[in-house]
Amino acid sequence: MAILLCTKTAAMNDWRDALLAEDSSLEIRLFPEAGDPADIEAAVCWNQHDMAELRRYPNLKLIVSMGAGVDHLLRPPGPPPGIPVARLKDHRLTTGMTEFVVLNVLRFHRQDLEYRALQAKRVWEELPAPDTARRRIGILGLGELGAASARALLSFGFPVSGWTRTPREVEGVTGFHGTEGLDAMLRQTDILCCLLPLTPQTRGVINARTLALLPRGAFVINSARGGHVVAEDLLAALDSGHIAAAALDVFEPEPLPAEHPFWGHPRVLVWPHASAITIPSSAAPQVVENLRRAREGRELINLVDFSAGY
Ligand code: GLV
Repeated sequence: MAILLCTKTAAMNDWRDALLAEDSSLEIRLFPEAGDPADIEAAVCWNQHDMAELRRYPNLKLIVSMGAGVDHLLRPPGPPPGIPVARLKDHRLTTGMTEFVVLNVLRFHRQDLEYRALQAKRVWEELPAPDTARRRIGILGLGELGAASARALLSFGFPVSGWTRTPREVEGVTGFHGTEGLDAMLRQTDILCCLLPLTPQTRGVINARTLALLPRGAFVINSARGGHVVAEDLLAALDSGHIAAAALDVFEPEPLPAEHPFWGHPRVLVWPHASAITIPSSAAPQVVENLRRAREGRELINLVDFSAGY
């Protein structure tokens, strides 16, 4: 029996080495060299993979995302019916994302864009000192990643709110949920951070209407999925000055086309989907553990809830 690695990225070999380091008896195949379809019992996939293709493997027991997000696996045609899908919950991913969010919150909070503009003009000028206790952070999504970022930001002394689909408590975080809760949180958010899963319900959540609810001069950070942001609406809000700046790690499509206005926008920080990069050696143990559980018919870990979409 074999694990099929399905990604076009250079990480394919690192994944193979990491899985073999966990269990040298594993047989690893690299897509498209799947060999006999009946051998494949698990597929570990990243976002270029065609899910329809996985229907060819009659003994498939498990599909694993190579990242925290699973939207790429659930969009039509979706995984073969009845096959469980697991995501990664990995401390390196969580740490990477927390660093990214803190980095960009602090850049905006500490007027880094303004100081860089002054530096470009060789101007020595002190701007008014920002007040951490008055810079309100609003986090969309308080899952593994959102909650970790919230805790890190709380430790700096920022007031942190979080919005979730259903009520969720994270100590020290002011919780909001549901549609009304979203609007209420946005009205009192100076830096908005999106860490939601992408589902049909969350697609386009950052749009003209919701951006208008943010106070003038608010900032936007999106390191979830490009589909959360209506790009034209964000550009319009940036150009009108309603939104002061944005840090964007994710886009639709990716790579961000060379002619896209985000690239050259003076108030947009573009990142190439690099906020939290999966490190195969850190993630492999949970994949191997899940495979063992699937073989033994035991309960799997980090499973996706198909009804919630993440
Ligand atoms: C990256 O985008 C991930 O889903 O981990």
